[in-house]
Amino acid sequence: MKYSRTLLLPALAAVVNAQTAPDFPVQVSQLLVVDFQNTSISVEPAGVTLNREDILETPVALGQATATRQSTYILFMVDQDVEATAGQPRVQLLHYFQPNLFGSSEVLSFDAQAENATTAVGATYIPPTPPAGDGPHRYNILLYLQPEGFTVPTQFSSIDPPADASARIGFDMAGFAEAANLGEPISAVWFQVENKEVDSGGSSSSSSATDSAAPTGSATTTGSSSASTGTSGPAGTQTQGSSASGSSTTSAGAPANTGNGAGMLDASSGVHRALMGLSLVLAGSAFWVM
Ligand SMILES: *[C@@H]1O[C@H](CO)[C@@H](O)[C@H](O)[C@H]1NC(C)=O
Ligand SMILES: *[C@@H]1O[C@H](CO)[C@@H](O)[C@H](O)[C@H]1NC(C)=O
Repeated sequence: MKYSRTLLLPALAAVVNAQTAPDFPVQVSQLLVVDFQNTSISVEPAGVTLNREDILETPVALGQATATRQSTYILFMVDQDVEATAGQPRVQLLHYFQPNLFGSSEVLSFDAQAENATTAVGATYIPPTPPAGDGPHRYNILLYLQPEGFTVPTQFSSIDPPADASARIGFDMAGFAEAANLGEPISAVWFQVENKEVDSGGSSSSSSATDSAAPTGSATTTGSSSASTGTSGPAGTQTQGSSASGSSTTSAGAPANTGNGAGMLDASSGVHRALMGLSLVLAGSAFWVM
């Protein structure tokens, strides 16, 4: 693919102002204000590392600071670093999908009677639960204007609502937005969560966990992302074991995982690990014990 000067300059500007994480297929320049009100945690600045126990409850988003008229919005939260298949590029996992959020510059609240409201139900919030020893996962929260007549595209019907956690794996934010004619996001923000438990399934020792958790991965990601954003796929480059293969498995522009998520999954240990963490969450178990 060739880049003309006119394409390249906006791309560079987008990197500088990016409010979604490096390598996420949807880049956004406007910052979204998100709060976890239950614990008074705000997601700021973009890219901040948060403690999982502080973000167990559903986040709330604020409308555009300058908005004077009320609009209807859709909010998404997506983990871009899920290992669905060992050794393969990381895929997205849908943590939250909430249509029918209504308001202007204030806290947006659910309103099933809002203008442009839809019967789509969305996907309830599940908190970040990266596997132990997997390095930091990057979570993107995106706000879209909800267009008149919005419905969930048929190829994504498995996430409205998701029957189980596996239906959320292999999500494709850019593909969904295109299929649903959402246009560009209004605003976005991202944060990171890392599970520093030792990946042994056994005892949890916080001192040794620190030693084993991806010592150099995040530095590599930051360094390469500024040069490659826009051309690299959703491959996570932050895990200690697979960082070399992950960063070389890039694809141009569009995410590699454009298909419906369920079809691309196999019974690999990666899926099992991802699901294991999620099923613990869904069962109400606090696996993260320091
Ligand atoms: C947050 O919500 C949980 C569960 O609803 C509750 O147990 C906890 O006390 C709340 N924390 C604060 C600071 O309100
Ligand atoms: C409803 O959808 C139309 C067309 O997409 C858009 O122009 C309008 O702003 C939306 N109204 C609200 C309240 O979001």
